[in-house]
Amino acid sequence: MKALFCTTHPGPLQGFPPPRRQPYTRSAMTEPRPAVIDFYDRHPINEAQILAALARRGKDPRALSPEDLYEWDQDHYGGLPAIEALARRAAIGPRSSVLDVCAGLGGPARFFARRFGCRVTGVDLHQGRCAGARRLTTLVGLHRQVRMVNADAVSLPFRTGVFTAVVSQEGLLHVPDKGAAIGECARVLMPAGRIAFSDWIATSRLEDGERRRLEEWMAATTLLTITGYRAILARAGFTGVEAEDLSAAWIGVLRERLTMYRAMREDSVARFGQRRYDEYTQLYQFFVGLVEAGKLGGARFSGTAGRGIS
Ligand SMILES: C[S@@+](CC[C@H](N)C(=O)[O-])C[C@H]1O[C@@H](n2cnc3c(N)ncnc32)[C@H](O)[C@@H]1O
Repeated sequence: MKALFCTTHPGPLQGFPPPRRQPYTRSAMTEPRPAVIDFYDRHPINEAQILAALARRGKDPRALSPEDLYEWDQDHYGGLPAIEALARRAAIGPRSSVLDVCAGLGGPARFFARRFGCRVTGVDLHQGRCAGARRLTTLVGLHRQVRMVNADAVSLPFRTGVFTAVVSQEGLLHVPDKGAAIGECARVLMPAGRIAFSDWIATSRLEDGERRRLEEWMAATTLLTITGYRAILARAGFTGVEAEDLSAAWIGVLRERLTMYRAMREDSVARFGQRRYDEYTQLYQFFVGLVEAGKLGGARFSGTAGRGIS
């Protein structure tokens, strides 16, 4: 099969490690869109709805600050305190070179850049979300500090050992081969670089039928237990691994998110139709129910890169 090259990421920016070119196969462009892409094509957190919310607040689009976006551009659980916690685990400071894997619309990436003055590269599989992230980043004037690269977490288009920190929030749940993704994170980190990420975790009580529904409805796949994640982090050479179980705290956070999605009804129906709105709220309710029942939860992992994997 002939390999095509993705050129959707911008050229190298000053101070950023240059990206490698990323091969994509022709089939990826002609076959039906993968479930995860389809899921984010129709996600209620999107660039258009963020801009509409800002307009309703009477914000001038020519005079926006990163803070103006924070209420809407974070697609993870726990809001800004969760990113602060991740930043502490990843030892992010002004001199850090940070990679945010599964960066979405770039909300956390912009937060790191604004809060710490560091450079951040965001990677996301969804081309539209990368483009939206770039536009939002330019709107708030952070385009010299934050760049977005359209790529798959299992095949990062960067040289070995170029980042001081790798972070990720609620994104790896979509990646079928989490071992490959964590291996790539280890590869692109400098020796003694830090990884910190949060993700869904399964418990032994999660049933096969429930796993299947999460995969079919939310493109959530191969969900790991805390022990499973510890094993792949160790295999990738990370040491001093810490795992914090966030499941209890997530119950309240997720109930609030369900309320937030319901409050976005008018915009979501206008954009994706009543049927998709109903479907999304129903599947989110199912997801929250699994967390309430202790079948699914979340955890924050952190560790230090070793000398790399052989
Ligand atoms: C729930 S969003 C999280 C976005 C962001 N981390 C945040 O906190 O706002 C998950 C993101 O993961 C991305 N994603 C899914 N699979 C991916 C993959 N294999 N490689 C890179 N990004 C991926 C999706 O496109 C989506 O934007």
